[in-house]
Amino acid sequence: MNGARNMAARALAFVVCTLALTALARTAPADAPRRGEAAYLVMHSVLQSPRCLNCHPQGDVPLHGEEGASHAMHVSRSSVSAGLPCGSCHRSQNGNSAGSPPGAPDWRMPAAEMPLVFQSRTPRDLCAQLKDPARNGGRTGAGLIEHMAHDPLVAWAWHPGPGRSVPKESLESLIRVATLWVSEGMPCPP
Ligand code: HEC
Ligand code: HEC
Repeated sequence: MNGARNMAARALAFVVCTLALTALARTAPADAPRRGEAAYLVMHSVLQSPRCLNCHPQGDVPLHGEEGASHAMHVSRSSVSAGLPCGSCHRSQNGNSAGSPPGAPDWRMPAAEMPLVFQSRTPRDLCAQLKDPARNGGRTGAGLIEHMAHDPLVAWAWHPGPGRSVPKESLESLIRVATLWVSEGMPCPP
């Protein structure tokens, strides 16, 4: 009798203890940066996919293909001001065959004054850049999410036309991790 009561008491203590620990883990503020950092790393892997990098290069020339070769035909940020708009070849829809220009509404790359470089940025550096209004086009965290959720150039990366890979994460999971990162205060990996 005594033994059974002891065991019941011990089981109860175990359950209470587990519940307390679970509640603690859920609310512990120390966990937030780690969750946010993990979310950022998933987002970073998408930003570094060829489809995104090709329009967010380090230099002034857009890239193409899976390896980021320089765009042919002297196309660059400055070829636009020299009178060769991207839209003269890139239409609002993809060309039908491999090697034909991909297309989406208002095809362009970021302007020279706000180049939004993703290429060759470490997770820590790109994370810091993305939350710096002086280097992110004046966007808040909500503005970043909004851009990625609704911009046709971002959406294009999942419908890139024949012969081009798509990012490993879906657009939905990109938005999910970006939302988590922002809600955790946009922490950056060390
Ligand atoms: C003279 C025609 C022409 C002009 C002008 C042009 N492009 Fe292209 N672009 C192409 C063609 C053709 C391809 C496809 C190359 C391939 O996939 O083999 C291409 C591919 C690309 C890609 C590669 C997409 C990918 O992920 O593989 C990007 C990015 C790109 N262009 C950006 C631009 C930007 C930005 C501009 C304006 C600054 C521009 N292009 C102007 C013809 C042009
Ligand atoms: C055809 C070119 C093109 C492609 C492809 C492209 N982008 Fe962009 N991206 C732009 C341009 C242009 C801007 C600047 C838009 C503006 O400020 O109005 C931009 C801005 C952004 C911004 C805002 C940057 C900041 O620091 O605030 C983010 C985030 C972004 N792009 C993410 C992506 C992601 C993710 C992908 C791939 C899934 C992608 N882009 C593919 C052209 C492109």
